[in-house]
Amino acid sequence: MNQGTTTMLDQPARVAIDAPALAGGIAKPDLITVEQAKAMSLADMTTLFKDHLNPGQLHFMKLLGFNKVKVESAEGMYYTDQNGRKILDFFGGFGSLAFGHNHPRILSARKKFQDENRHEIAIAFLSQYAAALAKNLATIAPGDLDMVFLGSSGSEAMEAALKVAERAAGPKRPRIVYAENSFHGKTKGVLSITDGPLYRGEFKLLDNNVKVPFGDIDAIRNAFERDPTIGVLVLETIQGGGGIVQASPEFWREVRALCDKHGVIWVADEVQCGMGRSGRFFAFEHAGVVPDVTALAKSLGGGKSAMAAMIARRDVYMKAYGTKNTAMIHAHATFGGIGEACITAIEGLNIMYDEDLIENAAVQGEYLLERLNALKAKYPKIIKDVRGQGLMVGLEFQDFSQTLPMVLRPVVSVLDDKLKGSLSGFIGALLLRDYDTLVAFTEYNRNVIRLEPPLICERQHVDQFVDALDALLGRGIIRIVKDFVGSQIG
Ligand SMILES: Cc1ncc(COP(=O)(O)O)c(C=O)c1O
Repeated sequence: MNQGTTTMLDQPARVAIDAPALAGGIAKPDLITVEQAKAMSLADMTTLFKDHLNPGQLHFMKLLGFNKVKVESAEGMYYTDQNGRKILDFFGGFGSLAFGHNHPRILSARKKFQDENRHEIAIAFLSQYAAALAKNLATIAPGDLDMVFLGSSGSEAMEAALKVAERAAGPKRPRIVYAENSFHGKTKGVLSITDGPLYRGEFKLLDNNVKVPFGDIDAIRNAFERDPTIGVLVLETIQGGGGIVQASPEFWREVRALCDKHGVIWVADEVQCGMGRSGRFFAFEHAGVVPDVTALAKSLGGGKSAMAAMIARRDVYMKAYGTKNTAMIHAHATFGGIGEACITAIEGLNIMYDEDLIENAAVQGEYLLERLNALKAKYPKIIKDVRGQGLMVGLEFQDFSQTLPMVLRPVVSVLDDKLKGSLSGFIGALLLRDYDTLVAFTEYNRNVIRLEPPLICERQHVDQFVDALDALLGRGIIRIVKDFVGSQIG
């Protein structure tokens, strides 16, 4: 392109100028092939990430040492990198890997589907795959949570949840209650009820919402009583991005009662905590209540595909989209209910029960909490709190920004003002570098490490993780900080 003289406004002229070249055929540009992509060096990956994906994100990957890993394969609980090093995955794609990496049954269902030349796009015809997945989800979901919308991401499922709830609540009740420290996605509708200043940036968002502290039933009651235009309540059942935060079963029962009393539609976001992670298929089942609308994503894709679902009670759905005049408002997007993603999810749901993964999440989660609580007792100056349910566990470190020896403070603060005072970044980086173990962080509470291993996790993996953490914490804070600083130099 003739830079310097060409602007967006010149485009029609550019088409006209390029057009004659078509007579000789369209030359293939210099494209990278699949095999070249697989064989790409870490240096080339870094350059391309910087040039075409997200230069700023590379900065954080470097701080955590994530930029030194090229994953060559992944199986079960482990990644394998370019040096044959096996990395234990306690990050689990923020809860996207219930079945672990490349579960053999999921792989073979997908291969068979491909070998049979099954179709993917199902916009024109009815899809047996989408129909079966919707039926399975309705069978698993309690009560009359029967109507399913299929999408490709958690944000999309939550957008669908907001829309069905808004229409069912009706035009006179447009206001939405949501929680402090919530995370529901980054598309603009759900971003409006996501409580992260970083993610919200300076976007123009919906303002028909009311924020309450998470788990505070009085705040919800007061909001409902004060404002009769409130029609929808949206809450994660366990807050993930907020740092693994739970509310009591009693809170959820009161939420149900208050929503019934005031005719408010309750949307339970189960994108991260659902799919068996908490030790029940849906985390709200621990409280014995059923919301009006819920959403799943992440592990619903079996770790191999992008699949998400919004599930609504039948009466809520019918109120919103039940007639043929309104049906197309809600019809799914191009990739909603796409074939291979549906059969991947169907196989995953079957595996979940065949392999008792939900119960396993409860059992291993309890063991993980028990061992972490023992570490908390051993290192009270380092670990502040251990919490969670099933295999959705938060480990909160003491904020040591004020207790760090004076000599180390300037060194740490020049590294990055996000990690300053946050042990979790240092510990996560060293767990990866020295103990081949991957954990996740949270944007809202930088002192928390999130542990969301696959639900196929066994006792030996919990031991491997906790032993590694124990060995690392045994170094003491000062050495941990020094070792982290060293990792940035080395
Ligand atoms: C509770 C919750 N809701 C919604 C989302 C958005 O999902 P996605 O990233 O697939 O759009 C997430 C993602 O982390 C989430 O944790």
